[in-house]
Amino acid sequence: MLSFLCSLPILVQIGLLIVGVLGCIKIYLKMTMGICTSTKKLSGKTVIITGANTGIGKETAIDLAKRGARVILACRDLKKAAIAKDDIIRESRNKNVFVRQLDLASLKSVRKFAAEILKSELRLDILINNAGCATIEKKLTEDGLEVQMQSNHFGHFLLTNLLLGLLKKSAPSRIIHVSSVAHAMTKTLDLNNLNSELSYNTGTVYYYSKLSQVLCTRHLAPLISSSGVTVNCLHPGAVETEIFRNAPSWFKMIAAVCFPLFFKSAKEGAQTTIHLAVADEVANITGEYFSDCKVAKTSKLANDVGLAKKLWEVSETFVNLKPEERHF
Ligand SMILES: NC(=O)c1ccc[n+]([C@@H]2O[C@H](COP(=O)([O-])OP(=O)(O)OC[C@H]3O[C@@H](n4cnc5c(N)ncnc54)[C@H](OP(=O)(O)O)[C@@H]3O)[C@@H](O)[C@H]2O)c1
Ligand SMILES: *[C@@H]1O[C@H](CO)[C@@H](O)[C@H](O)[C@H]1NC(C)=O
Repeated sequence: MLSFLCSLPILVQIGLLIVGVLGCIKIYLKMTMGICTSTKKLSGKTVIITGANTGIGKETAIDLAKRGARVILACRDLKKAAIAKDDIIRESRNKNVFVRQLDLASLKSVRKFAAEILKSELRLDILINNAGCATIEKKLTEDGLEVQMQSNHFGHFLLTNLLLGLLKKSAPSRIIHVSSVAHAMTKTLDLNNLNSELSYNTGTVYYYSKLSQVLCTRHLAPLISSSGVTVNCLHPGAVETEIFRNAPSWFKMIAAVCFPLFFKSAKEGAQTTIHLAVADEVANITGEYFSDCKVAKTSKLANDVGLAKKLWEVSETFVNLKPEERHF
């Protein structure tokens, strides 16, 4: 066998070596991938998933609908959401799936969405803050906040606060933030530059937004621990979704090659979210960061409780949180 390989032209040998190494990496990734094994049913439970019309959010919705939950898709684009809703109902055979409009990049929209939920829903068992965007150009929203930062962090921050009362009433209940390992790609968090007031870099904004989700998870957990509401965050893995839709075309070309080789499918990428939403074994875990369905390490910065507290307070100011909107 070896002598046969050695007799092949050098380029073929190198080619085989590359294929072999890639194959091993792929097998390693498949073997270490976390899969939710819980068979938990969710009849009688209500779930809200933001950004559920595509990607990880949509696969999460299909899975939770299959378990019998009442699933509310919180989406900004009602046309896309209506198509997704039909898909989710068809695949899950659960008709208890609804669309409500939510644009996280508008504080007004978040308040309107929350008010409608509080009026129409008797309970809320699981809130999944999944929506997110990356690699978009600098833009301020109607609220004067940086758009990526508001979509990923400030919008979910306000939403969580507004729905906390209902979550408490429905306890035991769970809050889940879909963050990212990208939270660890910044070594600082400048609270004076949360909305790119001083400088702008699209990557840094994304890292800031994902770090903010981890920090707020850490800060909120002890504040609500006695109420039976848990809050955790997660990294879904590198997942083949539309998240890079706004990236430059050279990036997309590289991604087109790498996606099938190294990236999880959206269904695989949804597993840690689903695990946190349903598994009995995490019922009493709170304030943690998960990856591949296991507790994982965060960056040192993401463990800084002083920074977390300051970020929380600054975020309250940016979303103009009123005393009656605070539920702890
Ligand atoms: N894919 C990865 O490799 C990866 C890695 C780490 C973390 N994540 C995180 O995983 C989460 C889900 O992303 P994905 O990979 O599934 O990406 P995706 O396919 O692009 O889905 C993102 C979802 O978020 C929604 N969204 C974006 N901005 C919004 C806003 N302002 N208001 C309401 N909804 C908004 C999108 O709605 P529209 O369709 O209407 O735009 C879409 O439904 C994100 O938080 C992302 O940061 C992903
Ligand atoms: C979680 O805590 C509750 C109340 O203390 C307890 O009844 C339950 O067994 C715990 N579950 C797990 C998986 O530890």
